Amino acid sequence: MRVTVRDMQQMKDRAEKIPLLTAYDHTWAKLLEAAGVRFILVGDSLAQCILGYDSTVPVTMDEMLHHVRAVVRGTSATHVIADMPFMSCRINEDETLRNAGRMLSEGGAQSVKLEGGRQMAQTVRRLSEAGIPVMGHLGLTPQSINRLGGHTLQGNSAEDAGRLVEDALALQDAGAYSIVLELVPARLAGIITEKLKIPTIGIGAGPHCDGQVQVSHDILGLLEVGIHVDHLPRHVRLYAQLSRDAMAAVSAYVADVGEGRFPSEAESFKMKRAALDGIRGRQDPTQGPPGEDS
Ligand code: KIV
Repeated sequence: MRVTVRDMQQMKDRAEKIPLLTAYDHTWAKLLEAAGVRFILVGDSLAQCILGYDSTVPVTMDEMLHHVRAVVRGTSATHVIADMPFMSCRINEDETLRNAGRMLSEGGAQSVKLEGGRQMAQTVRRLSEAGIPVMGHLGLTPQSINRLGGHTLQGNSAEDAGRLVEDALALQDAGAYSIVLELVPARLAGIITEKLKIPTIGIGAGPHCDGQVQVSHDILGLLEVGIHVDHLPRHVRLYAQLSRDAMAAVSAYVADVGEGRFPSEAESFKMKRAALDGIRGRQDPTQGPPGEDS
């Protein structure tokens, strides 16, 4: 049995912090589960981290499903949350329900996440009633980047902050099991967290949320400044520098091959003496590589 949304609620009730990370493929999902992550988000940040798009807007249902399945295959106990891509949940409720259902029935995810406040409340209610657990997403909602005009702090005026509180309450009333708060002031995230019974999961929202989510590519240093990105967001703490390690390793490999140091004899395979003699007998004995074999 995989970890459930009830387990997440119990963590909030016990005041136990809830760590989440993104993963997009089988290898990383396995690694995250082995390292103790109980909730994995297959975020639509797939768009930039894996697929090379410059925002989350272009990513499709089929692309998301492909990666959700890989993450599900890489885990056995972890709760997998599938992000609903931009156009999968904006046309009408029926289409949203069909697409969210596919994330569970075809993708194997245990819940979905979708962006938006009050305007999504009725949709969240419909999905929840259909048995699809929904995580909301407020504050900076990257799918609205074209309207917001940039990755800027949200809820920074009394009016905007009030709207965010109301949005959070509306999503909770509609049946959301948890809400991501992205790029909002820490104090505001704290106020929302206190007002809600369901867990809040912060990203760039300070320490008062019930849990934290980060893009694993960010915290593992897989996105190199100057190669992949212009800068890292302020909320990212680098726990490793994997792109640097990978570049150093690849340069060493290139040099070893170029200078004949790779592969060594220990990294090569021997041929049976009889087979070697046989093949030599059929060839000009002065030609071909020497064989040192048993
Ligand atoms: O797609 C994603 O990675 C997300 C997180 C930033 C919450 O939605």
